[in-house]
Amino acid sequence: MDRRGVLRLGAGGGLAVALGAATSCAPEPVAPTRVFSQGIASGLHSHTEVVLWSRVAPELAGGDLSVAWEVATDDSFSSVVAHGTAVAAAGADHTVKVLVGGLDPNRSYWYRFRHSAEDSRTGRARTLPAPGSPVGSMSFAFASCQSYNAGYYAAWRDVATRDVDAVLFLGDYIYESALINLLGAARSGDLVNTATTLEDYRAKYRIYKTDADLQAAHEAHPFVPIWDDHEVFNDYNREVFVDEPLRAAGAYQAWFEYQPVWPISGTRIHRDLPWGDLGHVFMLDGRQYRDPHRSDALPVGAMPITSYETAVGRTLLGDQQRDWLLDGLTAASAASTWKVIGNPVMISPLRVLDLDTPELRAQDPDLPKHAGFYTNSAFDSWDGFVWERDLLLSHLAAGGIENTVFVTGDYHSFWQSGLTPDFDDEAAPLVANEFAAGAISSGGGAINENVLFGGAENGPYQPGFNFINGSHNGYGLLEATPTEMTVSYLANNATSATMVPRPIARFTLEAGDPQVAVERL
Ligand SMILES: [Fe+2]
Repeated sequence: MDRRGVLRLGAGGGLAVALGAATSCAPEPVAPTRVFSQGIASGLHSHTEVVLWSRVAPELAGGDLSVAWEVATDDSFSSVVAHGTAVAAAGADHTVKVLVGGLDPNRSYWYRFRHSAEDSRTGRARTLPAPGSPVGSMSFAFASCQSYNAGYYAAWRDVATRDVDAVLFLGDYIYESALINLLGAARSGDLVNTATTLEDYRAKYRIYKTDADLQAAHEAHPFVPIWDDHEVFNDYNREVFVDEPLRAAGAYQAWFEYQPVWPISGTRIHRDLPWGDLGHVFMLDGRQYRDPHRSDALPVGAMPITSYETAVGRTLLGDQQRDWLLDGLTAASAASTWKVIGNPVMISPLRVLDLDTPELRAQDPDLPKHAGFYTNSAFDSWDGFVWERDLLLSHLAAGGIENTVFVTGDYHSFWQSGLTPDFDDEAAPLVANEFAAGAISSGGGAINENVLFGGAENGPYQPGFNFINGSHNGYGLLEATPTEMTVSYLANNATSATMVPRPIARFTLEAGDPQVAVERL
């Protein structure tokens, strides 16, 4: 979308948002409409289809309600290219979703809903480029972790003003936990209970979606969401389907009701989005297929990795998703320049004491691969799945798959590092980069590292990072052309309602060269 498109969209109510970002003043919140009081949203889907979402206000929603929708090539709706009606069903908590087809590739569309003679606000949707078509640019905001009580959504207000194709949302759209909602709360409003039922989870989404800044971000850009743990509960794994099947089913149903995604198959959410010949986006599910991690980790501390973490076959992705990812990366490598992996948890190792040295390995050949002490919170991330991480990164090396980046959520802090197939082999090649960006509002970023080392920046990480900021909220911006990718980190303090994110770092990659240039701002 061009800048004019952003500002014209703003004229429907978001212009104050754009000016607010420019002047660092608190903008007037967007006025929610009465019927569509929880906003609207669109989702990226294919090169001819878009997903539209909204919800009819609860006080109007006695039963199933018919809602009209229309899609136009302009935000004044002078050229409507598709329209119809859909049902906001009581059985779906009066959410409504439409898959609109027959659209042209690689362009923005504008959409709105109507019920009881009232229009929703106007939003922007977008189709993907046609498969294999030449494409000159792609741009995404990537974000995660938006605890409602922990902070304000000034970062979303900022995202709404950005000239990006879409938002990659990497997990923790809601927080299920009463404890998390009470600790460090900057504002009230979320339920002071822990969600365990379908109705509880729906109530969380209804609260979060009242926020005007979140609504503005959804209006401005299509989203591609994946979940992490807090859409169900902290650090969960596949055993949830045995231990708490009803809770998991309720949490998943609410997610599908409230996210602008069209179901793929069952509860599958991992998916890929080809971006012409320029890029290929892979969005991962790091939860529903994963093996459990050790349950003896204290909240703060560091533990040695063991043969439990390094076991062959131990999986974060599950066998099917892993095969899909490896095959997809190989195919994408032949067809496009950049591979962007939307990754819910950090893949860079958080090892603070390296015990896999040549000397120690000579004394003990049975030493676990990548032996050492890792910060405890790392065991829920890829550090708890050593074999699968090395397999994935080795696949990039063996296949000559270049220009791969992981964009990552979960850690409520900013990190950047290069990745190799074996981080204990100094000769191992760089094969990818990870960009982990801060939380939209959730606090406690890098809490483990901050407590242990007086600031994550001071940690004795082995291997080291190119950039760490462990004390801010914010998000990331990724922009790519056939020759270059830049990633920017924008940081704020979400306990302030008005503090707008500012750039703290910019990273540049030239196509074909995995060595990142780091610019601290
Ligand atoms: Fe989070």
